[in-house]
Amino acid sequence: MRRLEEEVAERALAYVLDPPSDPNDVINYASPDALLRVFETSVGMAFADDAPAEPSEQIVAAVDHVIHHSVHTSHPRFLNQNFAGPDPVSVVGDWLGAALNTTGATFEAAPVFTLMESAVLSKLGRICGYLDDPDDLVPPLPPGLFCPGGSTATLFALQLARHRHQPDIAQRGAAGDQLVIYVSSAGHYAATKSAALLGIGIDNVVKVASDSVGAMIPSALETAIAESVAAGAVPLAVIGTSGTTVTSAFDDLNALADICDEHELWLHVDGCYGGSALFSPSHRYLLDGVERSDSFVWNLHKMMGMTQQCTALLVRDPQQLDRCFAGKADYLFQPDKLYADYDSGDRTFQCARRIDVLKLWLSWKHHGDVGFAARIDHAVAMADHTRARIAASEGEFAHVTGTFTNVVFAWVPPELRPITLDPESMSELDPTTHQTLHTLPPKVKAQMQAEGTAMVGFQPIAGLNTFRMLFMNSTVSTDDVDAILDRISDYGVAAMSATEPTN
Ligand SMILES: Cc1ncc(COP(=O)(O)O)c(C=O)c1O
Repeated sequence: MRRLEEEVAERALAYVLDPPSDPNDVINYASPDALLRVFETSVGMAFADDAPAEPSEQIVAAVDHVIHHSVHTSHPRFLNQNFAGPDPVSVVGDWLGAALNTTGATFEAAPVFTLMESAVLSKLGRICGYLDDPDDLVPPLPPGLFCPGGSTATLFALQLARHRHQPDIAQRGAAGDQLVIYVSSAGHYAATKSAALLGIGIDNVVKVASDSVGAMIPSALETAIAESVAAGAVPLAVIGTSGTTVTSAFDDLNALADICDEHELWLHVDGCYGGSALFSPSHRYLLDGVERSDSFVWNLHKMMGMTQQCTALLVRDPQQLDRCFAGKADYLFQPDKLYADYDSGDRTFQCARRIDVLKLWLSWKHHGDVGFAARIDHAVAMADHTRARIAASEGEFAHVTGTFTNVVFAWVPPELRPITLDPESMSELDPTTHQTLHTLPPKVKAQMQAEGTAMVGFQPIAGLNTFRMLFMNSTVSTDDVDAILDRISDYGVAAMSATEPTN
């Protein structure tokens, strides 16, 4: 047998170049017990005390189990959540970054990647309107940094907000102000988790009312701020969301920026999901006003198919990163070494930092701006096709909400057709209808997983379980959409007949 590394690398490359695409191959589903039994045929899943070194043949057999039983997120019928369809160029870029195994903290250890990060962050900064100097393409101080995921970047952004509010916070600790953060009721839970971690407190995150699609209602934000002030609290920051997780709603950033300007609040934009709309000349208007924000988080591992994770935290004032995060470790950030002013490590909380930029740089060089725009436009076209299919289904499917790349809908049993499912009036459904519709998506999904034909998400909207398809994989076709809707229909019929009372 060849070396273990070669065997594994060969399988990984074969997977990337020719990922599973047969209709029943989205997942080879197995229960936790069954999975453990599968691994018992090779090296076992667990490590007992005194775990032995296993023979390479057995480890390779286990790697085959890993591949066979993993969810094939590159499959065009995996529409389950806010990532899908990794760009193969990004996958191999990630491998190369791992092989070169360095940390992005210093120019000394990562000269190429320091410049690469600057080049990419500067381009992202120009796209979102933070920078406008076309001659400064690789600045020593780029407008942000790469972070390990959107939630972590949100945490960092809120710490920046707190630092601007109280510049001596790092040294002296938080003053006693009851700080308040505002996010739409459809915003991501990174806001509450960050507030918990920062000691701001979950109770001091105000969930501002959003409209039926999920966009924050600006007048409700103004009311919420006035209420906080009246209660003696101190408004700190507003999180505008550009592309909510479930419905892909976009807050009106100009309206939020006007309010933030008036009250001198930090405006953070959560563009983790929808930030990539900026790549498309047809859709970038959705983020109008982002250039007025103070910070902006952009997950390239969502819509752009970078491998997880690839997150940029962009900031309007890059000088603040150092003021807020510097630890000045003299064994690492020696000011008298070569090109110390390029070191990025003291501009963030982390010490070692993965080289997440390489895969994005490679992919962007390969696809160009036009290719990146095409990925967004294709995703929206697939969502539009889904909406059109639902509209033409004569009541078999009911559109519930969603915009841009996200379609939230229900499959409706024949005896309930036609039905209107509007998030604002869904609570008025009679209890039997509600129960029937609510219990269908989990049954349909379980059957889908068992047969491996697709993966589509579901979640409660106004208390009613509804399906969600969201698009970003560039290999999804209208045939895939049609086939998935057909499967949902088949499984819905089967679930209904299984629950029909027998005489
Ligand atoms: C809108 C939004 N914000 C933030 C996040 C958190 O990003 P991450 O999963 O990288 O922590 C997500 C993840 O799904 C998201 O959809």
